[in-house]
Amino acid sequence: MKIISNPYELKKYLNGTSQSVGFVPTMGALHKGHISLIKKAKEENTFVVVSIFLNPTQFLKGEDLEKYPKKDEADKKICEIAGVDVVFFPHAKDIYTPDEASILAPNVRGYILEGASRPGHFNGVLSIVMKLLHIVNPTKAYFGKKDAQQLNLISLMVKQFFMDVEIIAVDTMRESDGLALSSRNIYLSQEQRKEALKISVSLYEASKMVSKKELHTTTIIKAMREQLAPLEISYVEIVNRGFEPIEAVEIGNTIILVEAKVGDTRLLDNIWL
Ligand code: PAF
Repeated sequence: MKIISNPYELKKYLNGTSQSVGFVPTMGALHKGHISLIKKAKEENTFVVVSIFLNPTQFLKGEDLEKYPKKDEADKKICEIAGVDVVFFPHAKDIYTPDEASILAPNVRGYILEGASRPGHFNGVLSIVMKLLHIVNPTKAYFGKKDAQQLNLISLMVKQFFMDVEIIAVDTMRESDGLALSSRNIYLSQEQRKEALKISVSLYEASKMVSKKELHTTTIIKAMREQLAPLEISYVEIVNRGFEPIEAVEIGNTIILVEAKVGDTRLLDNIWL
């Protein structure tokens, strides 16, 4: 496995390959969710690149950039064991320069839900993903369904900017009790971890309501809010796959999303129906 920090060196290295390149962008602190992305990339491509870059521009002032878990050596080991060909491990100074052109998230889709809780967050996400895709120039890039809005915005960006890469959505990995895997789970105390289970349980109960033919989104959202209490809820929303609010669940075209705070930790989860 090769570790490359310089973007130009990586571009040069990859220019020589005629193989299909699968790309998994990450911010490090790799867990089983990331490994499932890498596995899928390996199944579908002959060459796999993983980037590890804690992207400062997607954190708002006062968020957890400084305390975000950093496990560089363990991450490299995980990549090696998972059979990654190249780890791209850049320094912020090689990625960003002062006073540069930037990508802005769409005015509506980028500022609802997660974008309303974290205004400007998706500008940072789209900017770094755009840069990484230009550096790696992959055949396919892999993103988790857990960050459903991020996935939607990236898929839109790639289309709208006529970029030649296929965006692949990968199912959320969960602990055996249902908690969605996240690098931020590490912040939870034992007690908070138990509280956090309300999130996946509320989604599971919502899907049970749907299977019993309760399709009205207001009814489902109300039941979920009751289940999530007393957690501090940022949003519970039901949208179609285009991220437009809907009045009734449409099987095959619906995502139910939750963001709630457990202690100081914001946790996201969703279910695709
Ligand atoms: O999902 C993440 O880990 C990040 O938002 C991403 C896509 C790697 C961009 O920094």
